[in-house]
Amino acid sequence: MKSLDERMDDAILNPTENRPMRDVVRVAASRRKILQGGMSLAAGFMASKSALGQRAPIVPFNPGLIGFTPLPRVQATGSWPTISEDYQFQVLIPWGDPVLPDGPAFSYPANAEEQADQIGIGHDGMWFFPDADDPEAGNRKGMLAVNHEFGSNSHVLGKDDPESLEDVRCSQHAHGVSVVGIQREEGVWRVYNACGARRIHVNTAVTFSGPATGSEFLETVAGNAPQGTLNNCGSGFTPWGTYLTCEENFQGYFGVTLSWNASTAQSRYGFSENGFGYGWHLFDKRFDLSWPAFRNEENRFGWVVEIDPYNAGQRPVKRTALGRFKHESAAVAVGKDRRIVVYMGDDQPFDYIYKFVSSEDHVKLRHEGESPLDHGTLYVAKFNDNFTGEWLELSMDNASLSSSFSSQAEIVTFARLAADEVGATPMDRPEWTSVGPDGTIYCALTNNSSRSTADGANPQAPNPDGHIISWVDDDMHVGTTFEWDIFKLASDTHGTEESFSDPDSIYVDPDGRLFIGTDGGQQDRMNNQLLVADTVSGTVNRLFAGVYDDEVTGITMTPNRRTLFVNLQHVGNGNINRTDFPAIGGHRVPRDATIVITRKDGGIVGS
Ligand code: FEO
Ligand code: CA
Ligand code: CA
Ligand code: CA
Repeated sequence: MKSLDERMDDAILNPTENRPMRDVVRVAASRRKILQGGMSLAAGFMASKSALGQRAPIVPFNPGLIGFTPLPRVQATGSWPTISEDYQFQVLIPWGDPVLPDGPAFSYPANAEEQADQIGIGHDGMWFFPDADDPEAGNRKGMLAVNHEFGSNSHVLGKDDPESLEDVRCSQHAHGVSVVGIQREEGVWRVYNACGARRIHVNTAVTFSGPATGSEFLETVAGNAPQGTLNNCGSGFTPWGTYLTCEENFQGYFGVTLSWNASTAQSRYGFSENGFGYGWHLFDKRFDLSWPAFRNEENRFGWVVEIDPYNAGQRPVKRTALGRFKHESAAVAVGKDRRIVVYMGDDQPFDYIYKFVSSEDHVKLRHEGESPLDHGTLYVAKFNDNFTGEWLELSMDNASLSSSFSSQAEIVTFARLAADEVGATPMDRPEWTSVGPDGTIYCALTNNSSRSTADGANPQAPNPDGHIISWVDDDMHVGTTFEWDIFKLASDTHGTEESFSDPDSIYVDPDGRLFIGTDGGQQDRMNNQLLVADTVSGTVNRLFAGVYDDEVTGITMTPNRRTLFVNLQHVGNGNINRTDFPAIGGHRVPRDATIVITRKDGGIVGS
């Protein structure tokens, strides 16, 4: 069954004619030839790479050996997680556990005051920030930043509709981010009393930075100070030790109480009279699109937000230079001249892949007191059918934007509209991106059942099961051209023990193992799963499977890669008849949670 966010993501909001129509049959046929030929896909890719001088790997890497016993398809089902026989798992920080050990314990239904001091629901993107005291300590102690994307009213409140502002606050406090200190003692990971621990939610004070800051697009008549982060989906991290949380389906929390006509921009971002049915706007006017005093409040969401996981007093910063859209993850690479590059997907059928490139060396900018995420250029991807591509600049320097947009503030706030103008390539729902050790970038295109015409980069029409695309940017990530290929079509794995569908969260480890978390209907009645692919051989092994109706997401590890953390989101869709996972503390309501995965022999996870 499709989850709430999945159903909402299925809407098509791109009205443009950017869908390439030309020569598609030939292109699709040539892709299939490469994918199914005698030469393995990955070998073909490597060969095509080596033909291009500038595409030599940026750093040499050690292709990952995947030696573990795969979890068989038949075992990847049920109301409880299952795992490869070479591995073991532990449950950590389920929804409602206290953020500090002496905080309020889980009770059900949740209440607003306690929820503000408890782990949120909808565990999604996350990152582990190791304790910096000494390298070894970082393998057993650190801060875990975890996104809380969404939780339905029926799950969180125990009823479909809020009846008071108190109910709305409870729902709001269940969304956002947890930053929690965790450590391993006697083989078990537990929350400890960390001074950096905190909850960030929909009512937390935040600040804006970058080109849209102070612009008319972010000002309300009420003049209320910026507050909150919402629908925190994928994530990223920076070389300077901060967490990036990415706002995805923010539109679903707004509604109307007065007469209202959606603006062009509001339509392009999917705002509607009742949103996802959370009913926040009925008690909190900030989320009422028709309430004049809060006009533009909706433009304050849809950003990448930077959080310092070791400073509980820091105000989360919305980095507007990275553009406003339905952000999935933010994959950061250090490019040529130590410029910061951020790869980002916009998860909607026929929406786009973006990247941001900082104007200068990130170390220099930070020495000058500037954020590398505030100064630079935003681009959107155009995939040509001949395996080349171009990054199209989204700035006032682009002649196709300078007449229709008034400022960079307007371009970044309505990045989707700007990307429509320049002719970006509509993709099959770009979810997470991740950058491999050789500089290859991977992006999960989760599915697009609405596609009726294939193109090179989206070669299946319809595409109900998704694929993973890869590319290498010229000029060590900072160039405006790239070479792409298809890494894997999910449908090619069906009927085999490698079977998966709907790739969503992805992470490439330093040896080139590609971890894949899925979110959607799997073949053979399997639950959503975590797989490991060898990026050279293309081999895929199943490591772990979740429970009924959940998704597996948020892949992060300790520095020694002996401990892996993943999240189980929307377990059982909150339905106790599907699962009572994790069934601890006498509670049977399903609770989203982090799963700690280790090899029984203590080896590198994924090997
Ligand atoms: Fe929140 Fe597109 O997944
Ligand atoms: Ca999700
Ligand atoms: Ca996702
Ligand atoms: Ca998804």
